Amino acid sequence: STNTVKKIACIGAGYVGGPSMAVIALQCPNIEVVVLDINEERIKAWNSDKLPIYEPGLEEVVFAARGRNLFFSTDTTKHLGEADVIFVSVNTPTKMSGIGAGRAADLTYWEGAARMIAAVSKSSKIVVEKSTVPVKTAEAIAKVLTRNCVDPNVKFEILSNPEFLAEGTAISDLTKPDRVLIGGQETPTGRAALEKLKWVYAHWVPDNRILMTNLWSAELAKLTANAMLAQRISSVNAISALCEATGADVSQVSYAIGMDSRIGPKFLQASVGFGGSCFQKDILNLCYVCESVGLKEVSDYWYTVVAMNDYQKQRFVERVISGMFNTVAGKRIAIFGFAFKKDTGDTRETPAIDVCRGLLADGAKCAVYDPQVAPIQMFRDLSAPKYAWDRPHGWTKSENHIMESVQAVSDPYSCAAGSHAICVLTEWDEFKGLDYAKMYDSMVKPAFVFDGRNILDHDALRKIGFVVYALGKPLDPFLVRG
Ligand code: UDX
Ligand code: UDX
Ligand code: ADP
Repeated sequence: STNTVKKIACIGAGYVGGPSMAVIALQCPNIEVVVLDINEERIKAWNSDKLPIYEPGLEEVVFAARGRNLFFSTDTTKHLGEADVIFVSVNTPTKMSGIGAGRAADLTYWEGAARMIAAVSKSSKIVVEKSTVPVKTAEAIAKVLTRNCVDPNVKFEILSNPEFLAEGTAISDLTKPDRVLIGGQETPTGRAALEKLKWVYAHWVPDNRILMTNLWSAELAKLTANAMLAQRISSVNAISALCEATGADVSQVSYAIGMDSRIGPKFLQASVGFGGSCFQKDILNLCYVCESVGLKEVSDYWYTVVAMNDYQKQRFVERVISGMFNTVAGKRIAIFGFAFKKDTGDTRETPAIDVCRGLLADGAKCAVYDPQVAPIQMFRDLSAPKYAWDRPHGWTKSENHIMESVQAVSDPYSCAAGSHAICVLTEWDEFKGLDYAKMYDSMVKPAFVFDGRNILDHDALRKIGFVVYALGKPLDPFLVRG
């Protein structure tokens, strides 16, 4: 049929590009899928036994398709040249300087990818936005592509196909998606491109779950989905503060409201704060888009979701410090979990960064245990200003001082030993099954647990002798200051 796609290339072999292309390759054995990156080390890792990202079920998928119809390469010229469909899945961080700093998306990598495509294309291509970008990016990219392509016979059709996978569940999200969203131009060639991409997904996704919209709707739906999900967490986290002040229990409140089918039970788990590469970035991005079209009130509205998240992290730090007699100076504190959620080694925007920094600023010594995060990553995250860890001049004196106060520990028991407190910052399942009585014996008394994810058995911990703080739960009399 005319819908046939023979070869797909993807620019960007990260958390989105890697898993999503691996699943396409597994489900479509008749399509050759090549994932490209400028980072040679990353490509090497994708071609090795130890994949560059941790994701449950990912190895099985990659090992089944790799070498058959799934390839990882740095040879962009060759593979972009041959592909019918090119996914762009490069990083789009928040701009750190210039116009829109701290809010707008940095499209440097995106533009770089577009220029690369234009330079090597000798046949017409469908270019698919997969990484989240501001609304109307497709329009800008189309201009870059057509103005830079030397061959006038080469035509580019742009589609927006935002990815909704969550880290830690990427493979099941990709295999059984709630929906696949594809936006395209409302022209005959735009519709033809939509049908082609739909044909790819139809290999395993039911027809009624593949939605086709115009370009701007697809782009905006992605930003809105993340803003609404984050808003649920900020709403519940705001209520968690009120629960602590009144004696209500946030888990009971969440359960009760989630039973209302109009609200639904998911994404109502109070936490020390949301993290990850998407929520904050996409909301800031949404705010910036609103501002640039003169909608200040709309921007202010969404910004409160981010502000509430910062408040929640700060509130947690203040609880720890005030609970421990208003000083953590010189005290060892065991940090359980550094990743932004369980089942990933990703630390982008993890609440653990702000919490540890808050404790370190008050003189604490942090011993950090996480089953998936490499010590070097923890040090990078904690030592340098955001986004600037790779600057060439090394660390400043005060950063060095911070580094001396951080220790990465490879097992939870030695992490707890000698500590005054345990702070649970990631909801790893393994934290639930640990021997807390054994840890209690090795800790300084009074020994505290601050459960920032509400995953432990708090009554059992109290029986052992711990002073327990659980988010949004009635406070231990010990923690209430008179
Ligand atoms: C509400 C709650 O739904 C109900 O559970 C509670 O007991 C009382 O308050 P009510 O105010 O009667 O009930 O009606 P509801 O259906 O919730 O609508 C409230 C308003 O929201 C209406 O003006 C409605 O038009 C508006 N609405 C509702 C929207 O604008 N969009 C929607 O998607 C839903
Ligand atoms: C999110 C979206 O879910 C996904 O659709 C989008 O494509 C990318 O952004 P991700 O950031 O990988 O995915 O993880 P998610 O499960 O959404 O969790 C984000 C953060 O919210 C985590 O820090 C998590 O711990 C926190 N969270 C989530 C809560 O604090 N409470 C909840 O109830 C749910
Ligand atoms: P995400 O979570 O959105 O997948 P990542 O940072 O994990 O983000 O992945 C993005 C990848 O895109 C990185 O591995 C980066 O090296 C790669 N990349 C960025 N720009 C280009 C480019 N012009 N060509 C090829 N790869 C690129």
